[in-house]
Amino acid sequence: MVCLGNICRSPLAEGILQDKVEKAGLDWKIESASTNRYHTGDAPHHLSQKVARLHGIDISKQRARTITPEDFDRYNKIYVLAGDVLSDMKYVVGKKFKPEKVDFLLNELFPGENRDVPDPYYGGEDGFHDVYKLIDDACDAILSKYSKEEVIGYKL
Ligand code: 4NP
Repeated sequence: MVCLGNICRSPLAEGILQDKVEKAGLDWKIESASTNRYHTGDAPHHLSQKVARLHGIDISKQRARTITPEDFDRYNKIYVLAGDVLSDMKYVVGKKFKPEKVDFLLNELFPGENRDVPDPYYGGEDGFHDVYKLIDDACDAILSKYSKEEVIGYKL
């Protein structure tokens, strides 16, 4: 799960998907990352932590890190939270970038539309609640899609 700073949107996406995966008893490895380095080592934004906590999810121990070319070896699927993240990622990752592994998170809800999860960084708390709901719905879609494929033998 990749966004610009790895402090607002992608930590929520990591925490929400991790929670669903654990509840479903699946053995998936999930991480999040940034494309810029402004917040490396920081905990998630306090409002991301707050909205997650209101849904029973603790993301306080996550620390921001930047995506690396090796992430394209380590992960089968890489979701970008927005289009500007995708452009930056191609630059950061260079030759290891594999377009077939990458998709917009919201394409799980709105196939092919390449919609952005809006960046709540410069707004108020409402924006974080809106972002939570979008990401939560997208993660539900991921789980129902890929946990079924795992049952029929295609492992993500
Ligand atoms: P995020 O939000 O990409 O959802 O973590 C942002 C946080 C910080 C910055 C940009 C976006 N920044 O440039 O500092």
